[in-house]
Amino acid sequence: MTDSQIHKGLAGVVVDYTAVSKVNPETNSLLYRGYPVQELAAKCSFEEVAYLLWHGELPDSGQLSDFQAVERSYRTLDDNVKRVVDDLPLTAHPMDVLRTAVSVIGANDGQADVSTPEANLAKSIALLGKIPAIVAYDQRRRRRQPIVEPRDDLGYSANFLYMTFGEVPAQVVVDAFDVSMILYAEHSFNASTFTARVVTSTLSDLYSAVVAAIGALKGPLHGGANEAVMHVFDEIGEAAKAEEWLNTALAEKRKIMGFGHRVYKNGDSRVPTMKAALDTLVAEYEAQDLAELYDALESSMTSRKSILPNLDYPSGPAYHLMGFDTLTFTPLFVASRVTGWTAHIMEQLASNALIRPLSLYNGPEERHLP
Ligand code: CMC
Repeated sequence: MTDSQIHKGLAGVVVDYTAVSKVNPETNSLLYRGYPVQELAAKCSFEEVAYLLWHGELPDSGQLSDFQAVERSYRTLDDNVKRVVDDLPLTAHPMDVLRTAVSVIGANDGQADVSTPEANLAKSIALLGKIPAIVAYDQRRRRRQPIVEPRDDLGYSANFLYMTFGEVPAQVVVDAFDVSMILYAEHSFNASTFTARVVTSTLSDLYSAVVAAIGALKGPLHGGANEAVMHVFDEIGEAAKAEEWLNTALAEKRKIMGFGHRVYKNGDSRVPTMKAALDTLVAEYEAQDLAELYDALESSMTSRKSILPNLDYPSGPAYHLMGFDTLTFTPLFVASRVTGWTAHIMEQLASNALIRPLSLYNGPEERHLP
């Protein structure tokens, strides 16, 4: 083996086929099962997109209402999940709480190790229904607010916001949230999805793969970036200080959160749609200062480094305007991406090969004990 065989970070390495989504950096496009994500965001609900990712086709109206009925039936949490969450300290990051709660849901499932396509689809829909309940429960317990039970007369996004804030916000907010869920749902072999596929390739169970994926998503180079963007905004404070802040940060060799992408080098295909959703929220909440800071940091970054924003750049401030705690932003990403992860878990199982790469040893030469 030689150095040239090493592909640090697996950059540029094609690992397998997938029919779930296609990322094309040349045309700056992203297709879910063949459909451009921008079209899905404009014309479909997140529930329809979840169905598409799992079944390969959009649902007709009968299939959609059956699917919604099942998802709505999973929206409450078992008492022992609530007890485990209640026992966790408020210093625990919400991603750690969510990871733990999903693990408990897996341990509660007597069929956890049954991995037929039907069983895994049922588990995936259950997680789709339950993760919003965990995220909302955790934010409300941190705010010492009474827990809000789910409503089965509301769609996914309206219910998610209702459980978190105790009321259904204006339609423009529900729509922006739904768009964010659609955009975050799937992105081929990103780090967390690949993690889920690695775990699945050992024939471990779906919950274990999702728990591992949550761990991978937490990092700021991946999903944790949406939270990190808001910390950056808080650190800068106002548009007038963006350029100076950026110069200092770059001089300190800091990575600027919400910018850059391993695959897209000419802009993230999802950003224009999420930026349009953010603009509707800026108008709704009259948040011109935040919009100015957003623009100032983006234009300083693109003129200094020619590195463009990724999806986490507009979604962080969007979730902030909706009223979510900053630490809750990455759990929102989980709520959406669990659809993509589980679609990949099922795809991996359908033509499995154990994922087990090689390494080039660079430790001490063979040696022996005296
Ligand atoms: N800030 C400053 N410099 C950057 C950034 C950034 N955000 N992104 C890339 N660069 C520079 C990097 O320092 C390097 O410069 P040099 O060649 O002089 O050393 C060059 O650009 C190439 O960067 P890289 O880190 O080798 O590229 P990568 O493909 O490994 O990194 C990335 C991709 C996403 C890890 C990186 O762009 C980054 O750290 N971004 C900030 C974190 C972030 O926003 N993550 C979200 C990713 S997208 C959605 C998601 O997964 O949630």
